[in-house]
Amino acid sequence: MKVVSTISELRDELDVCRALGKSIGFVPTMGALHRGHVSLVERSVAENDITVVSIFVNPTQFNDKNDLKNYPRTLEADCALLEGVGATYAFAPEVSEMYPEPDTRVFSFSPLDTVMEGACRPGHFNGVAQIVSKLFYAVEPHKAYFGEKDFQQLAIIRKMVRQLNLNLEIVGCPIVREDDGLAMSSRNMLLTAEERVRAVNISRILKESLEYAKEHTLQETKKFVEEQIAAIDGFVPEYFQIVDGNTLQQIESWEDSDYRVGCIALFCGKIRLIDNITYVASL
Ligand code: PAF
Repeated sequence: MKVVSTISELRDELDVCRALGKSIGFVPTMGALHRGHVSLVERSVAENDITVVSIFVNPTQFNDKNDLKNYPRTLEADCALLEGVGATYAFAPEVSEMYPEPDTRVFSFSPLDTVMEGACRPGHFNGVAQIVSKLFYAVEPHKAYFGEKDFQQLAIIRKMVRQLNLNLEIVGCPIVREDDGLAMSSRNMLLTAEERVRAVNISRILKESLEYAKEHTLQETKKFVEEQIAAIDGFVPEYFQIVDGNTLQQIESWEDSDYRVGCIALFCGKIRLIDNITYVASL
C-alpha cells in the first residue's frame, strides 16, 4: 500500500490505474480506524481493482472546537491496518492541501439536513459535503463506501451526488457492532471504562424496542426507548426519532412508511454517540 499526501500525486497514480482500465473504490474516513471501517475497505477491495482510503480529520464538519481537538488521530496504526486488509492507497493530506483557501460553498439538502444531526450540529453536513465533494473530485472513484451508522450522512451524500451530477455509485454498508452490541465508532475509544460499559445500553434498548414494536404503536415504542434511555445514569439524550428512511422526516404511526428507522443521539459522559435501527415489524 502506498501512502500519498497530495492531490496531484494521488491523481497521477490514479490516472495510470484508469488508463489500465482498473476500477476504483473509495472509502473516506477520518482515521482512528476500527472493524467498521475495515468492513467498508474489505467490500471495496472485493468489488474494485484499486481501493483508496482517505484519512483526514475534516475541520469544517466540527461545530465544536474541543471535539475537533480531541478527535483520535492514529495515522501509523491506521496505515498498518489498511495494509493488512488490501487497500491500495492511503490518502492522508494536511488541512492546507484540502483547503488551500477557505471553502465558502453553502450546500442545502433540505429537508434531509434540517433534522436530527443537522438540527443538533449546525453546519456539520455542510462541512461533510465540502470535504466529500473535494475528495470525490480528487479520487473520481467508480464506487464510494459509507457506513449506515451515519444514516443521515449516507442519505445526504446520495443527495449531494444527485445534485452535483457526480458519476459514481454510493454503496451503503451495514453497521458493524462490538460483541456486546455497541455500534463501532472511532469515538468509542474516548469512552472511560465505566462509560464504555454504560454505552452498551444504547444498542440493547434499541434491540429490545424491535420486539416491543411488534405489539405496540409507534408512539408507544418511541416512549419506550425515550424512557429507558432517560433511566440510564450518565446518559444525556439529544434525540430519538422514528423517521422515514428516505425522507428522514418523523412519522407518526407505523402505517406512515414502510421504511422506518429509529435514530438516536446522546451524550455518554462527554462523548456523543449515535446509533440507529430499522423497524421491520408493524401492527
Ligand atoms: O463519516 C466520516 O468519517 C466523515 O464524516 C467523512 C465521510 C469521512 C467526511 O469527513
